[in-house]
Amino acid sequence: MTVPLEIHLDADDQERALRADVVAGLTATPKSLPPKWFYDARGSELFEQITELPEYYPTRAERAILTAHATDIARLTGARTLIELGSGYSTKTRLLLDALRPELFVPMDVSPTALEAAAARIAVDHPSLRVRSIVGDFTRHLGFLPVADDRLVAFLGGTIGNLAPDERARFLAGVRGVLRPGEHLLLGTDLVKSPRVLVPAYDDAAGVTAEFNRNVLRVLNHHLQADFDVDGFTHVALWDADHEWIEMRLRARRPMRVTIPAVDLAVEFASGEEIRTEISAKFRREGVAKELSEAGFTLDHWWTDPEARFALTLARALP
Ligand code: AVJ
Repeated sequence: MTVPLEIHLDADDQERALRADVVAGLTATPKSLPPKWFYDARGSELFEQITELPEYYPTRAERAILTAHATDIARLTGARTLIELGSGYSTKTRLLLDALRPELFVPMDVSPTALEAAAARIAVDHPSLRVRSIVGDFTRHLGFLPVADDRLVAFLGGTIGNLAPDERARFLAGVRGVLRPGEHLLLGTDLVKSPRVLVPAYDDAAGVTAEFNRNVLRVLNHHLQADFDVDGFTHVALWDADHEWIEMRLRARRPMRVTIPAVDLAVEFASGEEIRTEISAKFRREGVAKELSEAGFTLDHWWTDPEARFALTLARALP
């Protein structure tokens, strides 16, 4: 069975956005690339592998919270519509769908392959559920979310941590802007903890995260005809204690000159020079409550796993 995709981000759009991000990020000092470009089919697959690594606890911790509280979430929200932003393969979503039994499920993601796989799987377990998959970027396309009955917007996995603080404020205000008072946001946030736990979660022994990180260079090679020597870059993960975020970087092993024909750019790398490819912010309850309140939400419930590694927040849109 194929499920139609609603496309607000077509291939042309994506390429244009990629080119703009690459020019801005690789001509800046220090160099950076936004994390959303990790997720082509291979990158989405590598991320799925990351979620099964012994060091990468967030997915398991969040799943434990959802298992414990999905029925609470259903009772407290009474949601008839589940919207999931950055849904990927929607592996944890079935816990919510089973408890909510909504009329409509709206997954939004930049990856059409992930959306198609998710919709096909969900159609098996929930044959009468209406699924409206949206290919879109949750930082740009919230305006395309449907108006429907009693909506719950789920933003899971700690993905909000990939946004810089100003982008986070804009994003949360944007979500509030599409909701009516009384509708809900379910937000997954990874929590501040020892770097002895955090750093290995982003620098696993098997090297899967390193491959995931380097995949962004493969995406540039493929889509922009760039000539990155992918193995010329090493994976770096470090804890920034001031900002309370993990930073992933790619470090040039030697001086390199990379050409990117699609944007008519040549980029020089000094030996040891780094590209910042991701921040993954870690949170505390007070900070989450403050950011939600500034965006027009109130924090109704805060649930963590038994080891308090990860939190799920249920927030309600204020009038
Ligand atoms: C999918 C954004 C939640 O930040 O932990 C995993 C991505 N990066 N390992 C995260 C990721 C490196 C992940 N999120």
